Amino acid sequence: MRVCVIGTGYVGLVTGACLAHIGHDVVCIDNNEEKVKIMKAGQSPIFEPGLSEIMQGAIQSGRIEFSTDIAAGVAHGEILFIAVGTPPLPNGESDTRYVEAVARSIGANLNGGYKVIVNKSTVPIGSGDWVRMIVLDGLAERQKQLVTAGSGPAERLPEVADFDVVSNPEFLREGSAVYDTFNPDRIVLGGNSPRAVALMKQLYAPIVERQFAENKTAAPVPVLATDLSSAEMIKYAANAFLATKISFINEVANICDRVGADVTQVAKGIGLDSRIGSKFLNAGIGWGGSCFPKDVSALIHTADDYGYEAQLLKAAVSVNERQRLIALEKLQQALKILKGKTVGLLGLTFKPDTDDLRDAPALNLIEQLNRLGAKVKAYDPIVSQTGMRHGLSGVLVETDAERLADGCDALVLVTEWQQFITLDYNKMAKLMSHPVIIDGRNFLNPQDMEKAGFQYIGVGR
Ligand code: NAD
Ligand code: UDX
Repeated sequence: MRVCVIGTGYVGLVTGACLAHIGHDVVCIDNNEEKVKIMKAGQSPIFEPGLSEIMQGAIQSGRIEFSTDIAAGVAHGEILFIAVGTPPLPNGESDTRYVEAVARSIGANLNGGYKVIVNKSTVPIGSGDWVRMIVLDGLAERQKQLVTAGSGPAERLPEVADFDVVSNPEFLREGSAVYDTFNPDRIVLGGNSPRAVALMKQLYAPIVERQFAENKTAAPVPVLATDLSSAEMIKYAANAFLATKISFINEVANICDRVGADVTQVAKGIGLDSRIGSKFLNAGIGWGGSCFPKDVSALIHTADDYGYEAQLLKAAVSVNERQRLIALEKLQQALKILKGKTVGLLGLTFKPDTDDLRDAPALNLIEQLNRLGAKVKAYDPIVSQTGMRHGLSGVLVETDAERLADGCDALVLVTEWQQFITLDYNKMAKLMSHPVIIDGRNFLNPQDMEKAGFQYIGVGR
């Protein structure tokens, strides 16, 4: 099938590359020329395991192209994905200006044949109908321009726009985005057009049938067809539930700290109850990233708009805000005065296997440590290697963990990168002024760390 993906970030590029990999003919559009240049050269502008390989295979097979030309993309695609960002506004509302710009351009470039316009961006509830309206506005504006310019009927756009809007929320996780795309738990299709939903099912059939899955004999992926608003709500509700689950275990961890219980054992004990499940019960320094914080805030905002106070979600956010400073509290307990001390951060990204620093807990920690007069250093496997500094200030980025440890009064493990398990902690402890380690992810073995000479402090254990 002919597909156009507009917006090639973490979601759009993975979607485009994976759809090309399973046999579709994909054009990826982005208005960032630099990004398009990198992608045309067969490279991924983001760090995402397995993505470059999939991209290169798709380029070689001629099934993917990259361009800034949205008109050409719209002309190419029978299925048009909108996958641009929907970042938070200062009041927590979702900023839909990029979705609006793309929907308007789609309208202005509609070329006659039937199209399915797919909202893959996470958009406020009600956006499906709104996108339809913007597309029609874009079409009408372009028609007017063409008539004013005196264009002949052949150059004019179709009088009646033939398209449907489908909401197809994305559930991939950064760091395992390619895996998640080929092994989804479900596919949600929201919309009231049987024709559009049938085309979407055809598009995803190889994934639904597990042809590219790790376990090819597993049952087909459930496809849930819903109305537009329910599909949009499913995305917000899923993220809000997972974020609340983490805030819950973080609250339990804080109580464990006070009563002397071990939250890692408690999480195991409750997670074995199949009604609860063991996933997303890792206590630590709180949830971050480009999705949970903004999506929970946007849902709270939507509720507010409709006269409902989302009390549980507000509590999940406030537990998280406090949790993101738990390492600071523990540093103050261990070192007392932080002014003039040097703190080393192991990891900067909001989770391992990504280069994404959006809303990373490390950023809050750096800001607060600076405010209290501490010097902050960091080592992160990706940030240190790529020299990427986007959004980072007030921190000296070191090239390896031992240089990081050198002269530090304490270390804080912020991100649970796998390679942090096998660092030479004996050597690192000796290089430090005070061998204290706050394990913000309960990732290291407390006994091993103590043997290496560290005072080990976890979260709720
Ligand atoms: P991103 O910021 O990584 O990428 C967005 C891309 O859109 C950028 O490359 C940008 O240049 C491009 N863009 C912006 N305006 C454009 C325009 N007018 N024309 C063409 N391209 C344009 O964003 P992301 O993380 O991929 O998220 C995209 C959407 O998917 C968001 O709504 C997000 O909430 C949702 N989502 C993200 C994730 C995730 O893990 N990142 C997971 C699920 C859903
Ligand atoms: C999330 C959703 O999981 C995904 O379905 C959605 O499409 C996008 O948002 P992502 O943000 O990539 O994915 O990462 P995720 O693995 O969910 O982690 C989010 C945050 O929660 C991270 O900061 C992580 O460290 C934290 N987390 C996660 C915990 O603190 N404890 C856990 O048990 C799990």
